[in-house]
Amino acid sequence: MTFARYLLAAAGLAAVASAAYNPTCSNNIVTYWGQNSWGGGHLNDPANWEKDLAAYCQDDTFDIINLSFVTNYNLTGLPILNHANHCETPFPNTKTMHCPAIGADIKTCQAKGKKIVLSLGGGGIYSYSLSTAAEGKQFADTVWNMFLGGSHQYRPYDDAVLDGVDLDIESGAHDGYVAFVNQLRTYFNGASKKYIISAAPQCVFPDANLGTTLSGAWIDNDYVQFYNNPCNLANINNQWNFDYKSWDTLTKANPNPNSKMYVGLPAGSGAAGNGYLDLNTLQADLKQLYTNYTSTFGGIMLWDASWYSNNQAYVSSLVSWVRANMKCGSTPPTSTTTSVGPTSTTSAIPTSTTKTSVGPTSTTSTIPTSSAPITTTTATPTSSSAAPTSTTSASGTGPVAGGPCSSQNTFQCADSTGKNSAYFICNNGAWLQQACGSGTACFQSGSSIYCNWPSA
Ligand SMILES: *[C@@H]1O[C@H](CO)[C@@H](O)[C@H](O)[C@H]1NC(C)=O
Ligand SMILES: *[C@@H]1O[C@H](CO)[C@@H](O)[C@H](O)[C@H]1NC(C)=O
Ligand SMILES: *[C@@H]1O[C@H](CO)[C@@H](O)[C@H](O)[C@H]1NC(C)=O
Repeated sequence: MTFARYLLAAAGLAAVASAAYNPTCSNNIVTYWGQNSWGGGHLNDPANWEKDLAAYCQDDTFDIINLSFVTNYNLTGLPILNHANHCETPFPNTKTMHCPAIGADIKTCQAKGKKIVLSLGGGGIYSYSLSTAAEGKQFADTVWNMFLGGSHQYRPYDDAVLDGVDLDIESGAHDGYVAFVNQLRTYFNGASKKYIISAAPQCVFPDANLGTTLSGAWIDNDYVQFYNNPCNLANINNQWNFDYKSWDTLTKANPNPNSKMYVGLPAGSGAAGNGYLDLNTLQADLKQLYTNYTSTFGGIMLWDASWYSNNQAYVSSLVSWVRANMKCGSTPPTSTTTSVGPTSTTSAIPTSTTKTSVGPTSTTSTIPTSSAPITTTTATPTSSSAAPTSTTSASGTGPVAGGPCSSQNTFQCADSTGKNSAYFICNNGAWLQQACGSGTACFQSGSSIYCNWPSA
């Protein structure tokens, strides 16, 4: 089955700040591609099924995409892949898919700064196991040669070199995974490229299949699935049902001193059995977690890409909000600042001259209406540091796109349109204008801003 190449450029995606994955930041966005989970519930609507991989790399929404996944492996045969409808032709006389189109898309995505990671494992029906250190080591050699920097007769994505490996281990013998990771790291340490090792445990602590691997192996990112479990975010105030603190402790104890954990969330109401929350509740919860556990907070992960195009307003608003509210450590993101999709080209300079009040005084979140320009959003919502500089001065104009600013990552709702359809972020000394998701507007609440639907 082949799919036309869709570009999302015309779809009005939210343009969001921060261009590329940065391990020191708390605002990375991860998703999974390759399983078309939306399509599973909408078999008669193929036009809206998951698009080609490259379609999800056209803008700055996702930093890391989990290519799911390698479903069968052991030491007796070649590993088997499953990419749903995306790739269905095996190499001759094998059961291993050959996916040149996905290989080309991987390169397209990498050229845009995305990390594409191979996910091993998956749910129930698949068969995989690594039962001893020797097996783990041998399988690491196979993975390095078939998918990463080595070479092999059968490379499913040809010469595309993936950015790392994700362990989504939900069954099988698992005593070999620490050795698997250790062996991969001997390859990684000699490579010029920075590879990622991640894992996707369930939020119930400890994870039965990944527990010893998560404590014993070097892990860059833990994507903890706060859905399909009783420990989902709806139970954030119930200590017995919400294990975040245990995950934080485990993350801090990992051999990798910079190990991060991500809050795994469903990207749509039907993407999981539970854990899908309305934006206001979710943002309040994430803010609490980020505030309490800043040093291990790496960002969010969303299951899965197929829901992005089918629940776009929600995902765009959430991503914009995370970008604006979760910050970076000492190293700011090396943002390219410009190529953020179609909306960025409308970076009009705010021209309002009606503004009179500036400064960090307003705490009200005024709901924009079409008839009244917003004048209360000029408060500088810094969470910690100084106000933006001269561009918000008493001259009455707000920040100017490209104009100077001094405090990295301070932000402000844009005020040029009267609808606050955008916001500014101070990025490496210059104000970067970013649009809110289609149909949403920028709001200020206390010391933070966010994009949401005007009726919210
Ligand atoms: C990767 O995808 C698989 C299934 O396709 C999923 O179960 C797993 O949670 C994902 N891993 C991450 C890192 O999210
Ligand atoms: C080993 O994996 C191959 C696929 O690579 C599969 O056909 C075979 O059944 C597996 N063997 C066992 C013992 O699981
Ligand atoms: C975060 O910290 C506050 C203040 O100590 C506490 O009341 C709240 O329960 C914590 N929330 C979580 C989810 O840990």
